[in-house]
Amino acid sequence: MHTSKAAKKAEDLSLGSILSDNLKDALFPPHLVLVPQLNEVYELELAYYEAKILSDEEILRNGAYFASVDGKPTRHFLICQGEPLKLAEHSSSRLKSFFKTNQFKTGYGTHGLFPYRGKFHPQMIKGLINVMGLKPGMTVLDPMMGSGTVPLEATLMGMNSIGIDSSPFCAFMARAKIEGLKVPLNPIKTAMDHFDSTFKYLNTRVNRMEGPLRDKQASLFDGKPQDSRVQSNPAEVFRQPEVDDYLLLAFLDAKGYAERSNRKSFPDQFKAILERYYFVAEKIQKVMNGLQEQLGNARVMTGDARSMDIPSQTIDGIIFSPPYSFAIDYLKNDEHHLKFMGVDIDELRESMIGLRGRTLRQKYEIYLEDMTKVLSDCSRVLKSGGICSILVGTNNNQLSSIFQIEPEEVIGIHETLIEAGRRHGLELVRKIERQITGMANTMRSEFIVMLQKG
Ligand SMILES: C[S@@+](CC[C@H](N)C(=O)[O-])C[C@H]1O[C@@H](n2cnc3c(N)ncnc32)[C@H](O)[C@@H]1O
Repeated sequence: MHTSKAAKKAEDLSLGSILSDNLKDALFPPHLVLVPQLNEVYELELAYYEAKILSDEEILRNGAYFASVDGKPTRHFLICQGEPLKLAEHSSSRLKSFFKTNQFKTGYGTHGLFPYRGKFHPQMIKGLINVMGLKPGMTVLDPMMGSGTVPLEATLMGMNSIGIDSSPFCAFMARAKIEGLKVPLNPIKTAMDHFDSTFKYLNTRVNRMEGPLRDKQASLFDGKPQDSRVQSNPAEVFRQPEVDDYLLLAFLDAKGYAERSNRKSFPDQFKAILERYYFVAEKIQKVMNGLQEQLGNARVMTGDARSMDIPSQTIDGIIFSPPYSFAIDYLKNDEHHLKFMGVDIDELRESMIGLRGRTLRQKYEIYLEDMTKVLSDCSRVLKSGGICSILVGTNNNQLSSIFQIEPEEVIGIHETLIEAGRRHGLELVRKIERQITGMANTMRSEFIVMLQKG
């Protein structure tokens, strides 16, 4: 069929106008500017919900995906701005130029300290906290907090939080990172100025297996004033629990690096890492003080996600990521640190989800039983109307070999958890797919599953 000249012209015009339409302009009002490097669909979705749920004031204070509101920079943009890491002098020029050109970094605050497998992306946690309707003063829980991304981010946002992990090392790591937001800097400087005695003290202590000083269940930031005195005696600085935690975390971080690579001697490695820890704490404290914002109160502890020491219906929202069936042996990864803390690893293994069972099939069955208990307890502690967000992926190849089916026929763990949640009063409200880069051979995507308590 022939189209008339006039109709063709109209078609061209509409094509032109369609193509000149900008998706971002269609989704967001003009006074909101997105952060740089927002390039994944799930991020655009979370940004869209933030724009719908948060007021302009709330976006300025706690938004995760906006750089400015009416030309005023958001707090998130300021926190992410600038050089994220103090690079060592000998770093390659490629690395230096990478950081120069990527001035906006989302590994802000103390989030980037200490490597931990399966760490959350902090900006995503901030976005999720917002779209789950959580506000400053409310309480968010991560029953399997690992390195503590959720309680740390909640603290930055002025929300209260509870973080639980069965590994005492995770509880220590999370506590030290949260304390880093307020740790007095002068004693750390003293420890750096007396590097040799600091190194000697920590080395003797670690070799003698004397664990962290503090009570595991202590609550953070309960109104204690910061100690800003300048200590000149390095032994004094370790008497302050938060300084002790922070220095010890840096030391264990360096020890891990030195064991994995022999590019530098252990003391040199510690020196570089200690400088970075100082730089990171100084930077986030400067930004937070400049913004004069209140930090939230975090309680991080060792515990079991299947039966939590938390009263019923007291939690406003839950975010967590379980081990993805039985892919990572977290105890093996942290064996050295756990031994240092005097933990009986065989005993701990019994409470770790994903590690029990002889055959793969048995492991999978026990994993599902355990995760059902976790969901049931999450439902118990959550207030009515509260949302529980779970980030989980499935290793289709692993499950296809257990069940002797094609990888495409495997039912994803997220689907199984949605069903288990439903049996315990948690209904699916949203499922967001997120691409995984870097481990595409075993897992291509993971899901953020949002369940609401009726
Ligand atoms: C995927 S990691 C969580 C990582 C975390 N989202 C982060 O940002 O670092 C899963 C965590 O579950 C913990 N875990 C395993 N079994 C547990 C249990 N029964 N109770 C509490 N935590 C458990 C592991 O120690 C591990 O740290």
